[in-house]
Amino acid sequence: MMELLQTLNTKQHDERRQGEAFSPNTVLETPFKKHFYIESYGCAMNFADSEVVAAILQSNGFGATKILEEADLVLVNTCSIREKAEATVRKRLTEFRKLKKANPGMLVGVLGCMAERLKEKFLQEEKLVDLVVGPDAYRTLPGLIQEAETGQKAVNVLLSREETYADIAPVRLNSNGVNAFVSIMRGCNNMCSFCVVPFTRGRERSRDANSIIEECVDLVNNGYKEVTLLGQNVDSYYWTASPNPSKGGIYEAPVTFAKLLERVALINPLLRVRFSTSHPKDITDEVLFTIAKYDNICNYIHLPVQSGSSRVLQMMNRTYTREWYIAKVNRIREIIPDCGLSTDMITGFCTETEEDHQQSLSLMEYCKYDLAYMYFYSERPGTLAARRFKDDVPEEVKKRRLQEMIDLYRGHSLASMQKDVGKTFNVLIEGASKKNADQLYGRNDQNKVVVFPKGTQKKGEYVFIKVSACTAGTLLGEVE
Ligand code: SAM
Ligand code: SF4
Ligand code: F3S
Repeated sequence: MMELLQTLNTKQHDERRQGEAFSPNTVLETPFKKHFYIESYGCAMNFADSEVVAAILQSNGFGATKILEEADLVLVNTCSIREKAEATVRKRLTEFRKLKKANPGMLVGVLGCMAERLKEKFLQEEKLVDLVVGPDAYRTLPGLIQEAETGQKAVNVLLSREETYADIAPVRLNSNGVNAFVSIMRGCNNMCSFCVVPFTRGRERSRDANSIIEECVDLVNNGYKEVTLLGQNVDSYYWTASPNPSKGGIYEAPVTFAKLLERVALINPLLRVRFSTSHPKDITDEVLFTIAKYDNICNYIHLPVQSGSSRVLQMMNRTYTREWYIAKVNRIREIIPDCGLSTDMITGFCTETEEDHQQSLSLMEYCKYDLAYMYFYSERPGTLAARRFKDDVPEEVKKRRLQEMIDLYRGHSLASMQKDVGKTFNVLIEGASKKNADQLYGRNDQNKVVVFPKGTQKKGEYVFIKVSACTAGTLLGEVE
């Protein structure tokens, strides 16, 4: 029987991605006898990983399905960043458990950060899970599936110092054909004291620059117009080629993040380039000047600060002070005057006082972020903070501070939208507006969503839009 469905089910439960809608499913004719269903949670890196997993499974005879009941293999790509992220996955697994009882041949696998954090414990806690596979072990999935098919429990949570999946062309299953994520590195060496990522993703390693360029060229050839280069700390990207025999064994110059950005920007002037995430300690003037130099590198930087108190920043092991961060923001605004700026903030970290909290608010007042992702502190087992400090700010205080921060931020983001009314922006069209089919939406250089009445323009085209009004999250305008 001809199989028709090829899709990826994506549910993003990191707050920053919640509620994000995805494009209609691509329907392809596929020859697959077996099918997998995958749900992804957490950050963009997890979503990019699910596309690598899809490629590995597809080349091993599994086609994707969006119909859970039709799947031979159900995978959930998990996140451990906060307790709530893990609770969401556990809840979902209880639903899969019911399904598995009705269909005992179905395999259930847990991938990603929660798999890495809990390892074999997952199998004890969630009896009906058959596979537990960490972020660096996806190449072994086909063998693990075979093992699981014979009734054994299959686990591979080995972390690697080299794995970057550089040679695997991701299968863009849930794509709108306009934007794509491109992983440029994996892991993180920073050891921020609150963060579980260094434990779930392992040591930082940069992907072969040539394979990144090849992936981006391929995307352009397939009609994509925007790439987002992904890493937990993109500014520390650093790749050195082995001696090239075809060039007489000569070493090519090392590729820094600034050089990589430039190489990607030079692929095609119509390809927009974005990146995430920047660590304030690592973003260099060279990167800022490269952004300023190339029109197609978007003027938008996500620069998480986490706290406005130097004392708390030190306990968080962020390695910069409030003053140092402010100087970095000033430098960004000097070199790229119209740069969009966003951040991540945590309220109620261990020992945080009202005064520390006020410092976070005053830092936000100074930076006036266009976008902010705010969380209350969630202690993660095994992290430096969990081992060293007491989680001593009561939950209601953490939440009250978070609410105060959100209220302040809302004023800033609205002001940021209002200041764009009357301006004209070059907008890359991403599709039909979800609220009104007679309208299209896209994003401007600064990452703001722009909605305008549909004319003859199509998805993937650039159009100049004059902004006439705004809501808290959207600019509204007309084609100029
Ligand atoms: N690598 C990025 C950085 O350095 O900012 C982001 C990493 S993390 C995936 C995204 C955000 O989650 C962090 O910036 C932080 O604000 C938040 N986060 C991480 N651990 C947390 C925790 N234990 N409790 C609350 N929020 C946390
Ligand atoms: Fe976590 Fe810090 Fe690494 Fe970001 S830089 S992933 S917050 S340890
Ligand atoms: Fe979550 Fe892992 Fe990303 S913990 S935020 S999915 S790196």
